[in-house]
Amino acid sequence: MPKIRAVQVSRAKAPFEIVEREIPEPGPESVRIKVQACGICHSDTLTRDGTFPLVEYPRVPGHEVVGIVDAVGSGASRWAPGQRVGVGWHGGNCGYCEACRRGDLFACQTFTGITYDGGYAEYMIARAEALALVPDELSSVEAAPLMCAGITTFNCLRNSGAQPGELVAVLGLGGLGHLAVQFAARAGFRTVAIARGKDKEPLARKLGARNYIDSQTQDPAAELRKLGGAKVIQATVTNGDAMAAVVGGLGTNGTLMIIGAAPSLTISPGQLLGGRQSVKGWYSGTSIDSQDTLNFSVLAGVRSMNEVFPLERVDEAYERMLSGKARFRVVLTMGG
Ligand SMILES: NC(=O)c1ccc[n+]([C@@H]2O[C@H](COP(=O)([O-])OP(=O)(O)OC[C@H]3O[C@@H](n4cnc5c(N)ncnc54)[C@H](OP(=O)(O)O)[C@@H]3O)[C@@H](O)[C@H]2O)c1
Ligand SMILES: [Zn+2]
Repeated sequence: MPKIRAVQVSRAKAPFEIVEREIPEPGPESVRIKVQACGICHSDTLTRDGTFPLVEYPRVPGHEVVGIVDAVGSGASRWAPGQRVGVGWHGGNCGYCEACRRGDLFACQTFTGITYDGGYAEYMIARAEALALVPDELSSVEAAPLMCAGITTFNCLRNSGAQPGELVAVLGLGGLGHLAVQFAARAGFRTVAIARGKDKEPLARKLGARNYIDSQTQDPAAELRKLGGAKVIQATVTNGDAMAAVVGGLGTNGTLMIIGAAPSLTISPGQLLGGRQSVKGWYSGTSIDSQDTLNFSVLAGVRSMNEVFPLERVDEAYERMLSGKARFRVVLTMGG
């Protein structure tokens, strides 16, 4: 049997190990993907550190996967070998558990890189309903970050209630934030980027931000109020204090959309009630949302800015993401 290379975490907080495994066979309603590219998301810390309750070890992380279908299990014949597909965080739904029957597809709790092995590997198995077809206009490296960073910010924006022309702020310019700025700008919102330091300003403006707020030298809430107040703030940062510092910049009926998995957040009720403001969480979406994200990105020219590393340099690649220095997404490629 041919062997494949995969990066696994054998227990919480253990280092990555590059291991050889048997090539996996697709079960019913599943396909095997020859992985070409896999983005490194900050949420991969959930697998690496064991901070997501469902994670079991050993586990291969990675939920921004793009590759070629190379074997199809029974009942998955709508997919065919040779098709280029993407898989995101939502790994599919069984269709018959209580959550699925209520239409809450995420609660089925099939998560790529958490409850089954993900894309830090040369091959992976994915459920048929978890796949999106990748348009020819996008390379695999370009498409991979759209499977989590892209879908999350695009789907959050289009479900936020903001209307074109209104002020949408993006807090944090990392993997998610730099795509959020592009989606908001290309979809016709007055887009404001908020990040730490001056050095990201030129890139933020290039990505479509009309205004840039340096949260280290300016008060982001006061600056947003000067601009009229935000209809929506998409908070992509990992830090609760940074989120709390922008709440005062919401306009009347404005919403803080929380995407970043900060450990805690303190907001005073008085800050919200006077302006009828809301705080709402958002998770990525399902495979049809990924499909929409890929298609919109082609239509509007949204592209992730990537730093590319081969699979064997996974440690360096992951540290680069954690350091906050990556501009802006780190993507692993598998070669061959
Ligand atoms: N809801 C979902 O479905 C979903 C999906 C994917 C990811 N996530 C979560 O979204 C967050 C961002 O993910 P990512 O992959 O974009 O991460 P990333 O590329 O590592 O970017 C991290 C961001 O957090 C900010 N940040 C880090 N430390 C900070 C601090 N001490 N104070 C203020 N800001 C700080 C950085 O802000 P600056 O730009 O100012 O440096 C940067 O924008 C993570 O928590 C991740 O788990 C959620
Ligand atoms: Zn992610």
